[in-house]
Amino acid sequence: MSRLFEASVKDNRRLAENHYLLTFHPLKKIRRPEPGNFFMLSTGNGLDPLLKRPFSIHRRTGSDIRILYRVAGRGTDILSRKRPGDVLQIIGPLGNSFPVGRSRKNIILVAGGVGIAPVFALAEGLIASLKKPVLFYGAKTGSGLLCIEELNSIGIETHICTDSGDTGRKGPVTAILREFIQGNPSVSEDCCIYACGPEPMLRSLSALAAEYGLRGYAALEQNMACGIGACLGCIVNTTGGYKRVCREGPVFPMNEILW
Ligand SMILES: Cc1cc2nc3c(=O)[nH]c(=O)nc-3n(C[C@H](O)[C@H](O)[C@H](O)COP(=O)(O)OP(=O)(O)OC[C@H]3O[C@@H](n4cnc5c(N)ncnc54)[C@H](O)[C@@H]3O)c2cc1C
Ligand code: FES
Repeated sequence: MSRLFEASVKDNRRLAENHYLLTFHPLKKIRRPEPGNFFMLSTGNGLDPLLKRPFSIHRRTGSDIRILYRVAGRGTDILSRKRPGDVLQIIGPLGNSFPVGRSRKNIILVAGGVGIAPVFALAEGLIASLKKPVLFYGAKTGSGLLCIEELNSIGIETHICTDSGDTGRKGPVTAILREFIQGNPSVSEDCCIYACGPEPMLRSLSALAAEYGLRGYAALEQNMACGIGACLGCIVNTTGGYKRVCREGPVFPMNEILW
């Protein structure tokens, strides 16, 4: 099945400053996306900008797909001006997904800022399969915390923190998680962490996981040109050599990344 398709924009709403929720409807049947998979989206019309931009699957409602995104530069700025009925050129779903096949007792989810996009997709799937993950979610300030109502609606235990302290606990998400692990020693039994967020957060989370002997997976975000493994523009250094985030990732075992 070709992964190149067109989709019609159904909705593109502003959630907070510089953050939008895009819903699109594929105009042909596509492969079912799994949490961690991503799509390459054309942001402009024609060849400008030339390169498609990668975005994680955030939610699937029927055959509609939702993308949660932050306006980071020109492409996402153009995307934020799409209106219902506009047509997008898309490739996907691409990449691997969060490996949750084996049933684990303790599942910890960690998200930073717009990193909640794929983590929410995973949380929703886990809860639908009657698992009880615990989410640690951080941002610089409260306005960077997205989908709080959606998180409440799926009933996930969520620990919120911000760097500024204006919402939730003050401090980095790793500090809040460390306290949680120390207060719940049994959590480390048969535990797995799944995370997405800024690289410094993932790096310190990886160190924390190593300190407590916890297994973990991180969804990485690298600048991408092709998204399909051809340009080598997205490589990351791992214990197994250089790997392409778009093909071998974006989800990697945390202990394999040479941060
Ligand atoms: C697998 C994957 C999934 C992603 N999922 C999401 C998502 O769900 N929501 C979301 O908001 N963003 C996501 N991103 C990041 C998103 O692709 C970039 O923010 C976007 O491509 C920026 O495009 P732009 O034209 O607006 O910015 P540009 O003008 O291209 O760049 C603006 C700034 O953003 C940086 N940047 C560009 N591309 C990336 C990138 N891929 N990752 C990190 N920084 C980048 C540039 O270095 C520059 O500093 C994802 C990235 C990857 C690789
Ligand atoms: S973006 Fe081209 S190889 Fe990954």
